[in-house]
Amino acid sequence: MADKIYYPNPEIVKRSHCSSMEQYREMHRKSIEDPVKFWSEIAKQFYWETPAIEDKYFTYNFNVDKGDVFIKWMEGATTNISFNLLDKAVKSGHGDKIAFYWEGNDPEDYSRLTYKKLLEETCRFANVLKSKGITKGDRVVIYMPNILEQPIAMLACTRIGAVHSVVFAGYSSDSLAERILDSKAKVLITADGVWRGEKLLLLKNICDEALEKVKKQDYQIECCIVVSHLRRLNNPQGRMNGVNGTSNGDTELTNVSWDNDRDVWWHDEMEDAEPSCYPVWLAAEDPLFILYTSGSTGKPKGLLHTTAGYMIFAATTFKYVFDYHPGDVYFCTADIGWITGHTYVVYGPLGCGATSVLFEGVPFYPDKDRFWKIVDKYKVTQFYTAPTAIRSLMKFNDDYVTRNSLSTLKVLGSVGEPINTEAWLWYYNIVGHGKCSISDTFFQTETGGHVITPLPGCTPMKPGSATFPFFGVLPELLDEDGHIVEGEGEGYLVFRQPWPGMMRTLYGNHKRFQSAYFERFKGYYCTGDGAKRDADGYLWVTGRIDDMLNVSGHLMSTAEVENVLAEHSSVAEAAVVSKKHTVKGECLYCFITPSDGKTFDEKLQIELKKRVRERIGAFAQPDVIQHAPALPKTRSGKIMRRMLRKIAAGEEDVGDTTTLADETVIKLLLELRPKV
Ligand code: PRX
Repeated sequence: MADKIYYPNPEIVKRSHCSSMEQYREMHRKSIEDPVKFWSEIAKQFYWETPAIEDKYFTYNFNVDKGDVFIKWMEGATTNISFNLLDKAVKSGHGDKIAFYWEGNDPEDYSRLTYKKLLEETCRFANVLKSKGITKGDRVVIYMPNILEQPIAMLACTRIGAVHSVVFAGYSSDSLAERILDSKAKVLITADGVWRGEKLLLLKNICDEALEKVKKQDYQIECCIVVSHLRRLNNPQGRMNGVNGTSNGDTELTNVSWDNDRDVWWHDEMEDAEPSCYPVWLAAEDPLFILYTSGSTGKPKGLLHTTAGYMIFAATTFKYVFDYHPGDVYFCTADIGWITGHTYVVYGPLGCGATSVLFEGVPFYPDKDRFWKIVDKYKVTQFYTAPTAIRSLMKFNDDYVTRNSLSTLKVLGSVGEPINTEAWLWYYNIVGHGKCSISDTFFQTETGGHVITPLPGCTPMKPGSATFPFFGVLPELLDEDGHIVEGEGEGYLVFRQPWPGMMRTLYGNHKRFQSAYFERFKGYYCTGDGAKRDADGYLWVTGRIDDMLNVSGHLMSTAEVENVLAEHSSVAEAAVVSKKHTVKGECLYCFITPSDGKTFDEKLQIELKKRVRERIGAFAQPDVIQHAPALPKTRSGKIMRRMLRKIAAGEEDVGDTTTLADETVIKLLLELRPKV
């Protein structure tokens, strides 16, 4: 890795919160040596109804041999996140500051929300939730597009101590049902539908299907609150007047099915709701939200994040990693349904009193320069997206970028998967004009916020390296046997001690939490990723080393896709592996053994692709489905995925096959490999 180093632009260094590696090292050292002092200093910027107990500020156990794993920050402290994010801003005279510029799918459709208005709407909706019987600890599922009602709904939950569980609105009704059931949610919040580019998604219909499925499992949601979003689209004036704009739009689009006993319109409920709501003071470790992520066994894991630690970590990472200053305009393209959206669309920016752009649409609509048009329109200073988006945009003529000024940009963020050098350089040179810092931020739903990342004003950048740990984070590389890899080398990426924003458990399943993350290496949190350290100490996250796939930044397990495929009556067995993809990073390559008497034909392939879309979501659709009359198995019946991965990659030599029960299988699979 003899890499060229890119130093931060002196203009960025000058204004930076952390402006030298010396300062970074010093702050990092303090954060590790005395975490209590470090974080309690930061916590002073927030409001605490009661303070933390000094000698119980930070306690934890990462070692399963010493008892249950636990992580506790700021025991004794009570606070309320919505109060810290909104009331404090209003009380300190920033009520008229824009919290969100909302940019719709259609460029003609846009809106804005000040901190004052966001507080009022949050309180109103908190009162609506209360009127539906929601109280502290109840779960509320949110299945919404990137519209302003989504952060309002989340913050309203925090106002009263309800626990939100946002489900990405690209998930299927099956996935939604599974999450509603697992979280035992009482209320579901959604929208009638949303346009994504030229595609219409009827979200309420998907919710209806999900709620039917939930009913079959003897569970029932008490209330479904629906934002009339499509209808409003036909009346931009309604939108401009605030988030509650209603109108008489195209009835054909808005004819949603309705259950009078269960469904209510958001705007009807909000009409008479009071715009103030006294916050419920929550304990530092009270649950804040559940966010589901794929688990390698196939069943999704409901990661639980709690109040105080998450709040201070979200705000602190946001401030330093994007080097946010008052007056900046920040734009994160992520969907709120992912952890990036939770921490870096909602909680982090609002925790710093920032102004952000919330974007509903896609990068290619109405044209391939939509992102760059938005950057110029709002004079964006920090832009944050995923390598898959960068790769898909760099395929087109650079003119789409260069015909926009982009002169306000200072920091470019990347998240979700390793960024390849070519994409990094294009981002740096074409989008950033060679003068912006790139923050290649490594984190996970589990970590809550950035854990390995450059800081814009200090870290010399190497394309593709997430560089160094954030404050409070102590990474190690371990070999197969759990020995620490010192200096240059490669291994399992683990963390030695907790930082405030990490998850606390899996909702309702602490045992699985321990076995999934803390069994493999005693005393460490195991990320499931591999990483290298170069001679300069830079960390390079190389990707998952478990049975997980990262397709366009969406994490999924091979097992969950295999389960869906194997349910088809024509499928006897299925094995799914990852294949490299130039835009998506990775894609799904599936081997299918048909059941006795069934044929493998195009119809079956189409059916299987459709089934995966329907059962998991469109983002999980397999790219390749190959006929596999048999799968390569050891004598004990274990599928040799290593060999399947090589076949999928187009290689001829799959390595040593002597452990296979039937070695001829490989030859057959190589012959049947489709030309892709
Ligand atoms: O494999 C790593 C990859 O994304 C995984 C986490 O996925 P998820 O929980 O869905 O959260 C995605 C958004 C944070 C990680 O285990 N990943 C994320 N960011 C990076 C990355 N891999 C390399 N470099 C990154 N910057």
